[in-house]
This record gives sequence, C-alpha cells and structure tokens, in this order.
Amino acid sequence: MKSDRPMHGRRTILKASAALLAAGILPLVGSAFAQRVLNRTQDQILGPFYPIMSKPNRTGDLTQVPGGSRRAKGQLLIVKGRVIDPTGKPVAGADVEIWQANSVGRYAHPDDTNPAPLDPNFEGFGAVTTGADGHYQFKTIKPPPYPITPTRTRPAHIHFDVRGRHDELVTQMYFEGDPYHKTDAFLQSAPNPKALIVKLSPPLPEEPDFMVAEFDIVFRG
Ligand SMILES: [Fe+2]
Repeated sequence: MKSDRPMHGRRTILKASAALLAAGILPLVGSAFAQRVLNRTQDQILGPFYPIMSKPNRTGDLTQVPGGSRRAKGQLLIVKGRVIDPTGKPVAGADVEIWQANSVGRYAHPDDTNPAPLDPNFEGFGAVTTGADGHYQFKTIKPPPYPITPTRTRPAHIHFDVRGRHDELVTQMYFEGDPYHKTDAFLQSAPNPKALIVKLSPPLPEEPDFMVAEFDIVFRG
C-alpha cells in the first residue's frame, strides 16, 4: 500500500492539472508546469511629433513646467502602471518616456500644423525610471482627439517609448469610449486593439482632481 502513495499523488496532481488546463486556468507552455508567459505590449508607430527639440521633464509631473507657477489646462490625469517582463517579473531601471498633445490637441512640436493654441504651462514630454518594483507614474492631462487631415481625426492617445537593457518598446495608450477608435488605422493595425485601450478610474482620495489611467507594459526588459 505504501508504494502506491507516490503514484497516487502524481495521478492526483496530473488530474488536477488537466482540469485546470481544461478550465483555461493553467496555461500550457511546453508543459503543464511551465511559467506563465505574457504577450509583449503591441507596438505602435512613433508618429511625427516625437519631441526631438527638447529634453523630457523628469519630475514626473507634466502639469507644470519646471519653474512655472500655473497648472496646465485640461482634465488632470495620473498615468501609471508596471513595467514587467513576459514572466511577470518587474523590470527595474526601465526608462519610460511619454509625449502627447495638450488639452486642445496641439503638440509642442514645430511640425504640428494644428491651428489649436499651445499651452505655455504644458510641454507634454516626460520621462521617469522604474524602481525595483517596476512601477512608473506621471501626472499629466488627458489629451483630446485631434485632426490629422480635414477628414481624419486621431483618437485621444498618449505615446510611450520604454527602454530597457535588452528591449525598446514604442507604443500608444488609448482611452475607452473614444468615437475615433474604429476609424484609426494606427490603432486598428494592432492585432488586439483593445489591449491598448484603458478605462479611466475615478480619482484617488489623495489626488482628488486627477482621473487615473493604468497601463502596464510588457517587454523583454
Ligand atoms: Fe500622437
């Protein structure tokens, strides 16, 4: 009887694993006991307004120009998330850059021909480095959709360029409920557009004026 026990135990584990696999709870990667593998965040184009003319704000707060006294116009927004590798491990030391249009859809870039005005209190270009837990956070504003031709409008989005030691990811984060998602060739070029769209959450008690967008980044690190 004693010799049956280990075999019985293994059978029980295999049966349980088969049930988990059937339920989609335990992903099958090589073997039933392999580590979970996350999909790399989908790439999007860099776009024409990468701010080559200036250095990113490294304070983590894009709602104020360093040295300025007034806040940027627009809906205040915290953009935060984790940078992780495909096994879910935090990526420390990743450089996370964002750039975006201001509250009326204008980039602080000389090539942007949108006649909407610039906001002197918003440059829309920031960078932070992830700590040991892989977290990043920016204070910024929610950009609106903006026209790119007389008949085409891009949905609201924030550009990301994430650099690690082995990988670099360029992508864009979009906002749920935007009417221009379906007609946007760039978003629709992604195999799974929904994975690039975030739902805004209500403000946190400690930051009552800021809506919150969470966007995790998966890349090789
Ligand atoms: Fe853009």
